[in-house]
Amino acid sequence: MYITTMENAFSLAGKNAIITGGSKGIGFGIATAFAQQGANIAIMARDEASGKKAAEELSSKYPGTYRYYKCDIADMKSCKAAAESAIADFKYIDILVNNAGIAITGNLLDMDEDIKPWLDCINVDLNGAVRMSYFIGRHMKETMRGGRIVNISSNASESPSKTVNMTAYCAAKAGINLFTKGFALEMAPYNVRVNAIAPGFTFSNFMAGMSEEAADMMAQGIPVKRFGRPLEVGALAVYLCSPASDNITGEVVFIDGGHSLAI
Ligand SMILES: NC(=O)c1ccc[n+]([C@@H]2O[C@H](COP(=O)([O-])OP(=O)(O)OC[C@H]3O[C@@H](n4cnc5c(N)ncnc54)[C@H](OP(=O)(O)O)[C@@H]3O)[C@@H](O)[C@H]2O)c1
Repeated sequence: MYITTMENAFSLAGKNAIITGGSKGIGFGIATAFAQQGANIAIMARDEASGKKAAEELSSKYPGTYRYYKCDIADMKSCKAAAESAIADFKYIDILVNNAGIAITGNLLDMDEDIKPWLDCINVDLNGAVRMSYFIGRHMKETMRGGRIVNISSNASESPSKTVNMTAYCAAKAGINLFTKGFALEMAPYNVRVNAIAPGFTFSNFMAGMSEEAADMMAQGIPVKRFGRPLEVGALAVYLCSPASDNITGEVVFIDGGHSLAI
């Protein structure tokens, strides 16, 4: 439904959202932004301790409902079980953010013949989003309440030169971009908008272990000369899940300080 006033145009009040990988990094930034805009959240991730801790932290600060669900997006049965549990608890899901992902580095020719790192990367970064979209997309179609799906891509989806030795990751994220557009067409008749966010370098566990000097050096190649912050990605996700963006679907929005423009 399109907006007629800016009042509550960016509100997520009362919306129920699943955020995969919502326990850490960008996912937790998205969860924090959603909580501040009034959403209830189901965090899905593999590690129980950090998942529960994230849900508890949100519960201690914001009035909504925040729960953790154990889920490995690399596994269809695990996705089904987590999706069913969240639907049973929340009654319906309005928003799915497919954020969980891994970064795999390494040249293709250095891999063994089973090309396991390549297959693992595609299995998590591309197929993981497809699995959750299958279960929650079906749910959204059945409930006929409409909905929003946001896939977290990367600026590496269009430019392998920004992330050296990460061809599998770039290919998975390029797949996410086209999946987003195709699924947007498939879901439009059910009033479900599907978009993607393509961050550039953003402070998170991805960056764990990197020295400040190394981060500063990497930032020099970015036009705005800094890395992004998880809450900034969260703010964009709020927009793409709020009434304000109802006329946007199938888009991939870059948030990388202009890095994709730099040679
Ligand atoms: N940080 C960046 O610079 C950057 C840039 C562009 C795009 N991105 C994208 O942003 C997303 C989040 O990245 P991040 O930097 O925030 O990573 P992160 O700090 O490492 O967090 C990753 C999150 O995903 C979860 N996760 C990983 N594998 C999973 C699996 N198989 N099943 C379920 N959950 C899983 C992790 O929890 P568990 O380990 O407990 O499962 C964690 O909550 C990814 O899709 C990444 O590709 C990041």
